[in-house]
Amino acid sequence: MTGVLAALYRAFYDHVLSRLPETRAVAMGQSVLRVLPLDRLSLFRVDDPRLAVTLGGVRLPNPLILAAQYYDPVLLRRAMGLGFGAVTAKSITRNARPGHPEPNLTRVRTAAGPGLVNCNGFKNPGLDAWAPEIARVPHRVPLIVSVAGESPEDCVALVRGLGPHGDLVEFNISSPNTKLVYAWSERPAELRAVLEAVRRASPKPLIVKISPDFADENERHIIPAAIDAGVRVVNYGNTRRVEDARLSQGAGGLSGPELFPATLANIRRTRARFGDAIDLVATGGIDAPDKAQALLDAGATALGYFTGFITRGPLLARQILEHLLAARAARV
Ligand SMILES: Cc1cc2nc3c(=O)[nH]c(=O)nc-3n(C[C@H](O)[C@H](O)[C@H](O)COP(=O)(O)O)c2cc1C
Repeated sequence: MTGVLAALYRAFYDHVLSRLPETRAVAMGQSVLRVLPLDRLSLFRVDDPRLAVTLGGVRLPNPLILAAQYYDPVLLRRAMGLGFGAVTAKSITRNARPGHPEPNLTRVRTAAGPGLVNCNGFKNPGLDAWAPEIARVPHRVPLIVSVAGESPEDCVALVRGLGPHGDLVEFNISSPNTKLVYAWSERPAELRAVLEAVRRASPKPLIVKISPDFADENERHIIPAAIDAGVRVVNYGNTRRVEDARLSQGAGGLSGPELFPATLANIRRTRARFGDAIDLVATGGIDAPDKAQALLDAGATALGYFTGFITRGPLLARQILEHLLAARAARV
């Protein structure tokens, strides 16, 4: 049954959604998610205590995390009933941002499968407008709030303002579409001081989300700086910066299955190098159960995805969770 419905969604994505202009496809997909109470159906979930994991000291009912992209509280509430063990809200900035002009999202279809390139540019309502809205969302599963700050003062203000509303706080230093946060990866010494200040200000466990574009820098400087600052969770990682002449900025962040081989290699190397000093979220290219399993086997504590939710649909979480349980049973 799950397999048939998942195949139907895939056909709908391939033949309808992926042929509409991007803005119309996004509007249609988000309207459906907003209007239909899919989160009330048990169809999308697998509730089994054997799937639970602990991330930064917080219990997640399963290791799947919806990666940052939605800030609309209705969409976040719906996503919390669609099988994820935690849901991440989009990165919020101190002041409202209109984002980059359209076209700011485009599709790519590679041998690995369908992906996206976006140059969203942090479109969001800003700290003061968003904090009261997110405060009203019930935490059916843990909520991860994400902050994107340009200066140390911004970062501390964001963590103070949003930390009380999340179960964990993700510190984004990796979105490639604005200089806003991407440049932090090039300044590890300053980053250490900011992470220390942010950690002192955060009432909740911190995650630092890093970029696949800086593998060497991450492992030599950024993760050690995060550990020194007392951060215990690393999310590896964000989109990969690529040129794309179809976008208003001429470049954007690639997401989807093309990222998977790098995500797997990054997780494997990072776990080998840092051992138990950190919990690791693997994000980038998960769109099938075997990929999720491979990342857990490589040392991931939890698994984030966004593009797979769009291209493979809301049943992907259940398919992955059933696969994880079956693999576990086969190994016992
Ligand atoms: C349209 C779009 C917007 C995104 N916005 C954010 C964001 O605000 N903050 C962030 O940390 N990551 C953001 N991401 C990156 C995703 O959270 C994720 O790290 C990335 O897409 C790789 O995972 P995936 O291949 O499963 O999509 C965005 C991705 C997309 C496609």
